[in-house]
This record gives sequence, structure tokens and C-alpha cells, in this order.
Amino acid sequence: MRFAVIGDFHFCNVPPGPTMGGAAIYDDRPRYRTITLREAPAFLDAVAAEKPDFVVGTGDVVEGGLRDDGASLAEGRACLREFARRQLTLLSAAGTHETPRVMAECVMPANAKAGVKRGPGYAFQYSRDDFHFLFLDYRAFAPGNPQRDWLLTRLAAIPDRDWLALVAHGPLYPVARPFFSEIEMVSFLKRSLRGRKADFFFCGHTHNQTLSTHRLPSPLLQVKCSSIGFAADGFLPLEREQGLLLDRGFHWGVAENSTPGFWIFERKGKRIEGFWRVPGAPPSAPGAAPKAAPRAAVFARFTKEHGKAAAMLQVPSAAPAPKTPFDLALLREARLNVFGWNVRGAEARIFLNGRDLGSLPPNGVWAARRRFILTEEDLKRLSPRNTVEILPLDGGDWVLGGLCLVGHTLDGRERRSSLDRSIYVSGNRFTKVWGMPRGGVRLREGVRRRLVLSFDSPGHIAATSVAKG
Ligand SMILES: [Fe+2]
Repeated sequence: MRFAVIGDFHFCNVPPGPTMGGAAIYDDRPRYRTITLREAPAFLDAVAAEKPDFVVGTGDVVEGGLRDDGASLAEGRACLREFARRQLTLLSAAGTHETPRVMAECVMPANAKAGVKRGPGYAFQYSRDDFHFLFLDYRAFAPGNPQRDWLLTRLAAIPDRDWLALVAHGPLYPVARPFFSEIEMVSFLKRSLRGRKADFFFCGHTHNQTLSTHRLPSPLLQVKCSSIGFAADGFLPLEREQGLLLDRGFHWGVAENSTPGFWIFERKGKRIEGFWRVPGAPPSAPGAAPKAAPRAAVFARFTKEHGKAAAMLQVPSAAPAPKTPFDLALLREARLNVFGWNVRGAEARIFLNGRDLGSLPPNGVWAARRRFILTEEDLKRLSPRNTVEILPLDGGDWVLGGLCLVGHTLDGRERRSSLDRSIYVSGNRFTKVWGMPRGGVRLREGVRRRLVLSFDSPGHIAATSVAKG
């Protein structure tokens, strides 16, 4: 058995209107349309070149969000045609972007054609010999929802000696995304899987890619996928952009927009081997034979036995550039990245080296790409150690984090400051449900918080990978 796993694909069938410079910062459609036209064909060709028996999709296969339902359906059908014409059998979980009609008339019929056993709503089971997938609707775990009983019944019916994979759009552990999952699913699954040998949790939703092991206490490997991004730009390790919010079990991660990837899983006797592949990327190891296009390079690899922890054989890493302390003088432009939850723009003022940067970039759901563009005066004030102050003006429910300075030198090299890993939380709405995240800092109206971003660490990012052990 050989199967692929893809994450958020966001196939976008409709042009985003007149092209405007920088439009993709606040509007997703220009980005997804560009990815659909420029990156997605080669991506699917690379998946097809692996000749998987089937493809597991973790939801958000389409972008959707269209004004009329007929257009959404046309988009869904166009998307599935792209899989079908490459002989790819897609089994897809319900995401956030599929409308009920797209699920009912497009995604679920395609799942049914592949021979799944339907459960309530969008839940279903797919089994191959002693390997079982339970596809879940991550938003349907409220008390009394029939998916709960269905899941418990399926868990009771599947022998504990068999392989078990759960597939859902929302992560069980939202690595590097505070307050971002469905708490009802998370608490129900953690209870239901306690003491059970569940092997994999395949998910997406966060648009970053991570691999992490969690003890339930049996080790569960969470594979958080994303298939959107720009392959040509090299990859950004997640820990350079976000606090991970995880104490242990993290193997590696890749930030949103950098490096669309997919997984290939192959059964080899008692083991499953997993390969993370990146279409269009250079060969994975120095001296490795170049792979014939369109086969994608391997950037990570693990092996796993049922009920045991996965052993990493290869992990992606970023090659550090030599330290060049005078690069600060060479910066031609720079920005201050800031991530947010429920931020409309007037919640706080941010000061960089004593200067007010202006209104916050609006950010509802911790989306990437939000930033302050630095002025010439701000650039002049940059130094190896930079002070950022957060002055909360509004005691409502909102969150900031992921503060980091990023710039490019005159000769085009990227320089990144250290990352501030704290999550700054105002109000109680998020913490009442989730609790304060690791690295969480409570903000109070009118009380400044001060942090330092330093340029002591090397900043250039180059994609590579390293063999483990
Ligand atoms: Fe998504």
C-alpha cells in the first residue's frame, strides 16, 4: 500500500478581479489564484508521478467563498477533474472552505466512488486490509452530535493491533497557532483515544506544516500538511516565524507560504515509511542523484511501527549564512511582522526604537503576511538590539504575537531578527476556552510591554536537509 497525503490546496477557479499591487496581503484570492495557475499543476503532476493508490486530503481542497453556490460547485468540479485526469483517487475530509453543496454534490460523491463506508454527516471510514482511516468533520463534535457515537463505535470495532489513522481538517495540536482548532473535537478525541494505539493524525487548517509526536500515552504522530505556497522561494523553518507552543515532541515545521509539500506513505512489512516531498526543489542531500522531473525531492523521512514512536531518518533544516554584522547598514527595506487574533487595528500602538509605527495591521485569525513596513527613519534607527513596545489601548479580546523584524539587503539577502515567542493576550475570551498558551503574556489596557528583537543571529534562509542518526 502506498498513499499520498495533501493538505489545504485552496484550488481557486475565479480570477480575483483587477490585479492590484500588494493585494494578497489582505485578500486571499490573488494568492490562491496565482498558486492554482502557477504552482498547482506541477504539484499534482509530482503527486501523480508517485503513483499512490489513493490520496488523503485534509480539507480546504477548494478556496470557495464565491457569491453564488453554482460557481462554488463549478470550482469544486474543476478541482476534482484535475485529480481525476491524473488518475488520482482523492479521499477528502470536510474543510472550512467547502460549502455544504460542494460537500454534498462533489466531495462526498467522489469519496463514495472510492469505496468508503459513510458515517453521519461528512464522517467516513476507509480501510485497506489492517490499515484504517477515520475521516472526521472537525466542526461536528458538540455534545449530542452523532459523529461522537459513530467514532466510538468505529474505535471499538477496529482491533488495537491494526493501524489507525484519523483524518480531520483542524489539528489535534495546533502547533504554532494559538487558539486555533475546535476545542470540542480536541477534548473528545483526547478522551476517546486515551490508551488506544492510534498511529497518525492527518490534518491541515493552519497552513504551516509540522510533524510532531504526542503521547496519549501511546505515541501518535500528527502530520500537519499544507499544499499551498511558492516552491521557488526556499523554505522558512517554522520556529523562525512563530513560537511553537509545544514543550516536546516537535520534529520540524515549515512556515506558511514557503514550500508546498506532500507526503508519501509506503507500507514495508511491519513498518510504514513516510517521505515529505517538495515539487521543484533541488535534490535533498549533497551528492544525491538528481531526480527526473517531475518527481519531487525528499526533504524529510521517517519510519514507524504500529503503536510505536516514529524514528526520524531525515529532517529539513535551514543552512545558516555566515554572520555579517554590518549588514544592517545594507538594508534597503524591512518590516516588522506581527500576527494577531481578532485585531481590527485600533487595539494597541506599537513602538519600534521609540517611534510609533501607527495602527496595527488588521488580522482576524493569525493570518501570515501582516506587517508594518518600516520608514526610512525606522530603518536608520535599527541596531543589533531593537526595542519594541506594545501599548494596549483597548481591553477587549484580542491577541498579538510572532513579532520579528525581516528585511533585505541591497544585494538581496534576507535578514531576520530574533523572534519574540510570546503570545500577548488581551481580555478573557480566548483563555476562558483554551487557557493561557505556553509563553502567554497578559496585556492590560494602558500598560506597556517591552521586548527586544536582536540581529545577532544569521538571517539568510536556504533550503537543505540533514540526515538523522
Ligand atoms: Fe485552509
